Amino acid sequence: MRFHYVCSDCGKVFMTEELMYQCPECSKENNGSSFPKGNLIVELEDEVLEKARKKDHVTPDDFYPYPSDDKEIFPIGVTPLMRPGRIAERLSLPNLRFKLDSQLISGSFKDRASYEVALQAKALGEKKIVLASTGNAGAAMSAVGAAMGLDIILFVPASAPINKLMQSVLYGAHVVPVKGSYDDAFALSIEYTKLFGGINRNTAYNPMTIEGKKSISIELFEQMGRTVPDAVYVPVGDGCIIAGVAKGFRDLKKAGLIEKVPRLIAAQSESSDAITRAIRNEDFSPVSATTRADSISVDLPANGRMAASAVKESGGWAVTVSDERILESQLELTRESGVLAEPAAATAFAALEEDRDHIVSELGQDASIVVLLTGTGFKDMKVFDNRISLPEPIENSVEAVKKLKF
Ligand SMILES: Cc1ncc(COP(=O)(O)O)c(C=O)c1O
Repeated sequence: MRFHYVCSDCGKVFMTEELMYQCPECSKENNGSSFPKGNLIVELEDEVLEKARKKDHVTPDDFYPYPSDDKEIFPIGVTPLMRPGRIAERLSLPNLRFKLDSQLISGSFKDRASYEVALQAKALGEKKIVLASTGNAGAAMSAVGAAMGLDIILFVPASAPINKLMQSVLYGAHVVPVKGSYDDAFALSIEYTKLFGGINRNTAYNPMTIEGKKSISIELFEQMGRTVPDAVYVPVGDGCIIAGVAKGFRDLKKAGLIEKVPRLIAAQSESSDAITRAIRNEDFSPVSATTRADSISVDLPANGRMAASAVKESGGWAVTVSDERILESQLELTRESGVLAEPAAATAFAALEEDRDHIVSELGQDASIVVLLTGTGFKDMKVFDNRISLPEPIENSVEAVKKLKF
């Protein structure tokens, strides 16, 4: 056996590698009034971690429940670790880095989870994958599906950015826009799976999503010369990415490769702050999310409990920022580093700007800080409407050039 499952709430152990979603007991209590319970954690067997410990260079495959036999079919990372010189200077944070997951194949971090779920499907002999998404997870799953010949059924809020939806249609997925929120699409996708089968990839509901997402931490560890940063800023909606980041560091620690887990800083919009409330006040009730940062607009976070405890265990905290601040930071990021990130990803940077003095007081100015830029801004240019416009064309003449003021 390579792994087994443990319930993140009651701690019950399930010694099986069969397809499992949630703890049958704890998930019985889920009724939408509070963050769901019963999400499962995949625990790798000791021999797997022992083998990783002895290696001079590890890759996510050493830690995946379903390792890949053909990594080139859909390469995940290594994504660039950028030193944003001008921004680091402005903020006086010399050891600031951006991790550019916007450069994954479908343009977002979600490729990581989608790839591991595709490997799960392959191992279990399943061809159909069903999911709900705010846009990026759907596009990522559809891209992996195209590369690996899988049938993707995707439920999305009809209001998701058009490019994210078009992207999934182009990859050949069956796209079902829902007249409702992401949370509604989530519920319908689970109903679909009950009715018509297939593997459900919903974020956190399928524990393999966390396993895929943890690959970033393994990658960072090698990229940073077998060390980890002091702090990582992560944009948070459902809480699956941050829980995945935490799981990667935890697996590295369990394997004896690192001694401490970095502080995890959860970055949220003030208009979608369910997990922040859980971190600060143990409040697990839903919110009415309205943020323009569509990828992190979540009422009832599917992985809220695990995310909140991962942040607290790491000694980290939550930072909320206004939508206005997010959009300003998105522009600053573009103009001062050359990275065009989507609003959700820019939220992590906005949170760092907001939190700059606090993090320096906690960890010192030389702290090594990584901001996860989780998705490209090219998918949602509409966000710049009424903010940025193309200049008027000039006449085709030297006279017109002479009049230019720059
Ligand atoms: C670009 C981007 N950043 C951040 C997130 C938030 O991840 P999570 O919902 O797992 O917290 C998402 C989720 O869709 C995303 O697409």
